[in-house]
Amino acid sequence: MKLAATFLGVVVAVLLTIAMIFTAGWSHPPIVGQQNGYRGTAMVQITTPSAEARLKAANALPDPVEKASASGDRAVDVYKNVQVLTDLSADQFNRVMSSITQWVAPQQGCAYCHNVENMADDSLYTKKAARRMLQMTRHINTDWKAHVAETGVVCFTCHRGNPVPAFVWYDNPGFPHAGGFTATNDGMGHPNSVNGSTGLPQDPFAPLLEEAGTIRVQATEALPKGTGASIQSTEQTYSLMIAISNALGVNCTFCHNTREFGQWPESTPERVIAWHGIQMVRELNDKYLDPLKDVLPANRLGPLGDAPKASCATCHQGAAKPLLGVSLAKDFPELGGSSQ
Ligand code: HEC
Ligand code: HEC
Ligand code: HEC
Ligand code: HEC
Repeated sequence: MKLAATFLGVVVAVLLTIAMIFTAGWSHPPIVGQQNGYRGTAMVQITTPSAEARLKAANALPDPVEKASASGDRAVDVYKNVQVLTDLSADQFNRVMSSITQWVAPQQGCAYCHNVENMADDSLYTKKAARRMLQMTRHINTDWKAHVAETGVVCFTCHRGNPVPAFVWYDNPGFPHAGGFTATNDGMGHPNSVNGSTGLPQDPFAPLLEEAGTIRVQATEALPKGTGASIQSTEQTYSLMIAISNALGVNCTFCHNTREFGQWPESTPERVIAWHGIQMVRELNDKYLDPLKDVLPANRLGPLGDAPKASCATCHQGAAKPLLGVSLAKDFPELGGSSQ
């Protein structure tokens, strides 16, 4: 009797464990590993066929839009209020209009940005924001080839059919704080949506992806003299690094030989691309996205009154190359023109 009860207990425990493995969202086999560093460095990226399938589904492409001729009537001559797409033919201009509708406001249509009684009217904030977005997209494709290469970006890279991209961030006001001389702790010890770790600061983005805070925190000599990096900037660095890894769906060894994180000669070429990415995101936030706070309505602003801003995830959305490396921009010379 006792034996039967014990046996039953073991069976129940095994069944519960199996049920937990398959329901808890853990990766289950087959696990596929691919080495991306020299042998023996343990630089390897790990994935599973089901994770790959999920990524593929999340990166479904929009319907292609027929190409337009660059010759013929000029958009500036046909329309009244064209300020950015001044180099396009009217056909190309119309192609851009129908594409951006599909990419940014597929449900709402032209009226999302236009007073349809008068298309030249600039009264809707969405049109003003979209004009700045056209400039930003051209700027990325023309001046940030060090990061986006020939692959480039279009509105869909960030928007994916939504007026506001899924991955944006705001300045973080932090948790309620007693004030006075009591210590603040950057939100440590609270659940963390940026990097999933309660031991790291909540907000690595404002200091490192908007302002040019320091990301170089490791000592370069065995017994460092003088004052090194502060504990705060070290914590912010690690918080950002975890956010970067999540945004790209990779682990630290995609860019670093973890024997020594700071060493560039032992890092992968991807780390250099990432370095350019950091400079690019700072500039986009600083020159294009945050200034839109003057244009956007209050319900679009964060708790501290700032505009939604970009991080690596805004374009990457869990993939090492946005849209798994597919270039939509190569079919859109209209969005690669001068950035003005
Ligand atoms: C996401 C915002 C957005 C959507 C959606 C949109 N447009 Fe536009 N539209 C703009 C912007 C921005 C301009 C100004 C471009 C410039 O200054 O170079 C513009 C300008 C125009 C103009 C020129 C008007 C003039 O006389 O100056 C026409 C025509 C136009 N759009 C048609 C359309 C049509 C048709 C649709 C729907 C298929 C559409 N647009 C959807 C943002 C949008
Ligand atoms: C690098 C990513 C990125 C790209 C590329 C991009 N956007 Fe945006 N867009 C954003 C972010 C982030 C916001 C929200 C922040 C803001 O409005 O300042 C936004 C906001 C907007 C809004 C305001 C929507 C609303 O309801 O408040 C419009 C309209 C828009 N984008 C149109 C476009 C168009 C058109 C293109 C392509 C020409 C484009 N975007 C390309 C990141 C991007
Ligand atoms: C996509 C590439 C990429 C990934 C993935 C990545 N990093 Fe980094 N990391 C960088 C870049 C680029 C820098 C240098 C930034 C600079 O110098 O401005 C850096 C800097 C660092 C530094 C500071 C080095 C120094 O010079 O003091 C540390 C520490 C670090 N990363 C740790 C990590 C950890 C831990 C992970 C995984 C959780 C990680 N990184 C994932 C690209 C990456
Ligand atoms: C405006 C959109 C955009 C943003 C924002 C962005 N990236 Fe990228 N990134 C791209 C594109 C497009 C590519 C593909 C370039 C190519 O095909 O070589 C890319 C490629 C990369 C690669 C090379 C991947 C590979 O497999 O070779 C790394 C690493 C990378 N990005 C890191 C980052 C980091 C880190 C950030 C944030 C600091 C960031 N990116 C922000 C658009 C973006």
